[in-house]
Amino acid sequence: MDSLIKEIANLKKAFSEALKKTNSIEELEKIRVSFLGRKGQIASLMSKLKALSLEDKKVAGPLLNSLKTECDAAFEQKHQEISQKGFAQKQAKKEYFDVTAYKPQADPASLHPLTLVQEHVNDIFISMGFEIADGPEVETDYYNFEALNIPKDHPAREMVDTFWLDIPGLLLRTHTSSIQIHSMERQKAPIALAAPGRAYRHEATDASHDFLFMQTEGLLVDENISMSHLLATAREFFSAVFETKAFELRIRPSYFPFVEPGIEIDVECPFCNHGCSVCQQTKWIEAGGAGLVHPNVLEACGIDAKRYSGFAFGLGLTRLAMLKYGINDVRLLHSGNIEFLKQF
Ligand code: PHE
Repeated sequence: MDSLIKEIANLKKAFSEALKKTNSIEELEKIRVSFLGRKGQIASLMSKLKALSLEDKKVAGPLLNSLKTECDAAFEQKHQEISQKGFAQKQAKKEYFDVTAYKPQADPASLHPLTLVQEHVNDIFISMGFEIADGPEVETDYYNFEALNIPKDHPAREMVDTFWLDIPGLLLRTHTSSIQIHSMERQKAPIALAAPGRAYRHEATDASHDFLFMQTEGLLVDENISMSHLLATAREFFSAVFETKAFELRIRPSYFPFVEPGIEIDVECPFCNHGCSVCQQTKWIEAGGAGLVHPNVLEACGIDAKRYSGFAFGLGLTRLAMLKYGINDVRLLHSGNIEFLKQF
């Protein structure tokens, strides 16, 4: 009997020491199982009551009962303490934002090479007194072909493969020359504008061809505009584009239905003196198509072709970006490849 009383006292001490050392709900649960559980230490002391005499039961019974209630209460209190502490910690994390905490490195953004080239070319046009014009990418047959002197069944329609929409008469513009028509209809003469934008052609893609590319062109309409205005402007323009002064242009006859005469302009390779891979050892680079605006085009826009004349020249901005930055695969330009884009 005496030893049972001692055991009760020891258990009480052991329980309160175990509680003191605990900080977590998990540990606390282990203590509960070990002391207060159905097969725990208190239950095993209780089971010893049966063997006692009635006299002893009267003493030990109340002692064991109060051991059980005290331990239960102490356990409850500790349980509350720990959960409140955890809650307070969680709250603290929510309320305070550590501004000195580690911040993952973010890649700085940069402009796309096509944007860089387009902005450069626009700046050159603006510095020469041209304004920047815009127009829709989904066009009608009229603005992309007919008003540009390419009537239905004209063989020039075969020069480019067109993306026709399911809606009859609508297409993705095959060149930015369609912008000229919108602008001339609106503004009449005199006009000096540049028309940058996307153009689409139904072509198989490879390293140097794409179904989507950027073009721009210059248009000038006024009285007495001649080929010499075109050539002087082109020389000034391309020497600014390639940032070089000593510079030869080469002119070859060509055909575009919306100009007459039509020419192809080549520029002396700005990357070498005696042939390189960019100019394919020819020392010349094809810069773009050009010519004097066909009278039919002026008339279609309500401009008197007897009084006014004009020139137009077009160039590929996508090709220019590839030349300028030495990009050897056109598909990289709309690949979204971060490693590629990071370089600009
Ligand atoms: N629109 C022509 C093309 O896409 C280029 C061009 C523009 C030619 C202006 C002559 C005059 O190839």
